[in-house]
Amino acid sequence: MAQHPTLDGVKQIDESKQGAVFFPESEAQKATTDTAATKRFYIESYGCQMNFSDSEIVASILADIGYSATRNMEESDLILINTCSIREKAEDTVRRRLRIFDKVKARRPGTLVGVLGCMAERLKAKFLEQEKLVDLVIGPDAYRDLPNLVQNASDGDRGINVLLSREETYADISPLRLDSNGVTAFISIMRGCDNMCSFCVVPFTRGRERSRNAFSIVAEASDLFAKGYREVTLLGQNVDSYRWTNPETEEDVSFAQLLEMVALVNPDLRIRFSTSHPKDITDEVLITMSRYENICKYIHLPVQSGNSRVLQLMNRTYDREWYKERVAAIYRIIPDCAISSDIITGFCTETEEEHQDTLSMIEFVQYSMSYMFFYSERPGTLAARKYNDDVPLEVKKRRLQEVVNLQNQISKEHNQADIGKTFKVLIEGNSKKSDQQFKGRNSQNKMIVFPKREGLKAGDYTEVKVLDATSATLIGELA
Ligand code: 5AD
Ligand code: SF4
Repeated sequence: MAQHPTLDGVKQIDESKQGAVFFPESEAQKATTDTAATKRFYIESYGCQMNFSDSEIVASILADIGYSATRNMEESDLILINTCSIREKAEDTVRRRLRIFDKVKARRPGTLVGVLGCMAERLKAKFLEQEKLVDLVIGPDAYRDLPNLVQNASDGDRGINVLLSREETYADISPLRLDSNGVTAFISIMRGCDNMCSFCVVPFTRGRERSRNAFSIVAEASDLFAKGYREVTLLGQNVDSYRWTNPETEEDVSFAQLLEMVALVNPDLRIRFSTSHPKDITDEVLITMSRYENICKYIHLPVQSGNSRVLQLMNRTYDREWYKERVAAIYRIIPDCAISSDIITGFCTETEEEHQDTLSMIEFVQYSMSYMFFYSERPGTLAARKYNDDVPLEVKKRRLQEVVNLQNQISKEHNQADIGKTFKVLIEGNSKKSDQQFKGRNSQNKMIVFPKREGLKAGDYTEVKVLDATSATLIGELA
């Protein structure tokens, strides 16, 4: 079976947020005053940003049937866990959490427990039959069925719906912003994935790719701006393949066009997006980014490996030369753009020379940061069926450590090159360490910490001069 694909301490997607409990008491209550909420739900989320964004859709659906959110599972009527399958560790954590929820159930009979998200599809039978720990199992495309399934479960029937859909985008559901800083928010623009990278479980857990109505995306962005938000991140597994056909005009909206539509909502609304696929990112997208100051100059462009043979085995459908050409195009069209990556070490049959190609790619691109993993076989994927997972674990880990060391050094140099520069920063709130300091990001997605000044608040833009830098953060002062 798969090992946890990351080393302890290595940065990985949303690691700081894993298991985050949402506590939108004020928002949830606002949203449910009309329906006189009598019931409460508690939700924990794991995995990628898309999964966290899905939890906000779930919260909105539950608010409509009179549930409000609580951060205290002991007082909840419905305990939900939104799960991830990409790493075995995430799956193990979910199993441990279910045993804790079971104790709550024992103390408060009638409390319902539900498993949502990517593990639901993979392990539906196991959850309901063998483990007997859960009342509801609901896959990522079936959240509209929650009210039904909750009702059935209250009547004593276990509820399950893990059907994947070709159409569902939840376009009309206004997400209930959970655990929000009131400044930055995510907007899902598409669901699923058609790429079939051979290492990846996502196409099996989240189904076919489909794009959301462009006007509903723009409306959501406008609504967020009106509520005081100043940054939206457009989310999809492969945003560059966004394509929505307007049913009235039959006209297609591409990702570049969507970016422009959202950028025009207001010049003070910053736009970010994730994730870009190297095979699909077009010059049109890069030119659109260069034209609008409020489209952030930052691209997450996962390379996975720097070697063409390994990339082919991974079914990434680009090679080393193609990737380098796309990077050159980014720096040509947007000279101040920062690029980040996802990297996997020790994929099936990877040799030392091929691993060296990954290291030299990191040098070539000069990533501002990367999420780094060692390969871990996932059941049902193309690689699990076709290839031999033959690189020993110690070798995978040693190669990962080499990648991490190099990336840390390059991140530090990248940040140190900013010393003396002044950036426009969107203030997100107090820094982690001190309420005398603000934290915020520049366009390149770098976190900057700086002393406060009277009159400035979260959601304001300000100019900050960089005085010092570590591999993770810039330290500055108001310019
Ligand atoms: N093993 C290791 N890393 C993986 N990723 C996805 N599947 C696997 C796997 N089986 C990494 C990829 C992807 C990121 C979200 O997780 O780098 O881009
Ligand atoms: Fe995890 Fe992938 Fe599902 Fe996101 S889409 S929750 S990363 S398995």
